[in-house]
Amino acid sequence: MSEGTAASRGEPSASARGVFITFEGGDGSGKSTQASLLAQRLSQAGYPVLHTREPGGTDVGLEIRELVLHHRGDIVPRAEALLYAADRAHHIATVVRPAIDAGTIVVQDRYLDSSVAYQGVGRGLDAAEVRELSLWATERLLPDLTVLLDIDETDARARLDAARKGFDRLEAESSEFHAIVRTAFLALAEVERDRFFVVDAAAPAEHLAARIDERVSQLLARQGLVPDDGRPG
Ligand code: TYD
Repeated sequence: MSEGTAASRGEPSASARGVFITFEGGDGSGKSTQASLLAQRLSQAGYPVLHTREPGGTDVGLEIRELVLHHRGDIVPRAEALLYAADRAHHIATVVRPAIDAGTIVVQDRYLDSSVAYQGVGRGLDAAEVRELSLWATERLLPDLTVLLDIDETDARARLDAARKGFDRLEAESSEFHAIVRTAFLALAEVERDRFFVVDAAAPAEHLAARIDERVSQLLARQGLVPDDGRPG
């Protein structure tokens, strides 16, 4: 099957098909906040919205999340990549794809680009192989739009420290690891410029939300999506 966004593949879009929007970025980039804000705004505008995340968007996924983020002791990189892919396979097949097929706008915190950046590049596995693993797992589902919150790893660490929560296995990695992940995300955005929308995560949250809203509105207009109540978004 050919790749590319739904629009570029020429698949039925308009009101028949929903839209798949993912948020990516380093730990502490504020992407979860921005994903929530977008989901709220779209829902208030009358669109059917599903806000979800990886890892952990299903019951099975919650168990995988616990294992992959909090297991004490080593998990080899290939096993780690497979755990994220297993979570993804189940999540996409049982939650995300049915929602998109029903015309829902899916707003998702992290997707396959996280695996490519963290496992493919950060853990030193082959980026192309890790991407292919996720595409196999999801029967080749790619987002229509990926918002990348780019942040300097030192700033991100300061935010995580300020939030004072315990670090999970990935967050506890060195700043070199997070710098590599950041570079990997930016490289992915360069390759797929149509799919990615890169924003500077250091900007104030309201400013970021406004920029993201504007970009998403363009996408919805292009896909011919209108809210359930028929009012423009
Ligand atoms: P996330 O839930 O975004 O973290 P939090 O809610 O604590 O901000 O992601 C959890 C961690 O999993 C994060 O460090 C990135 C990592 N991750 C991968 O390494 N590969 C993946 O494919 C995904 C989805 C996440």
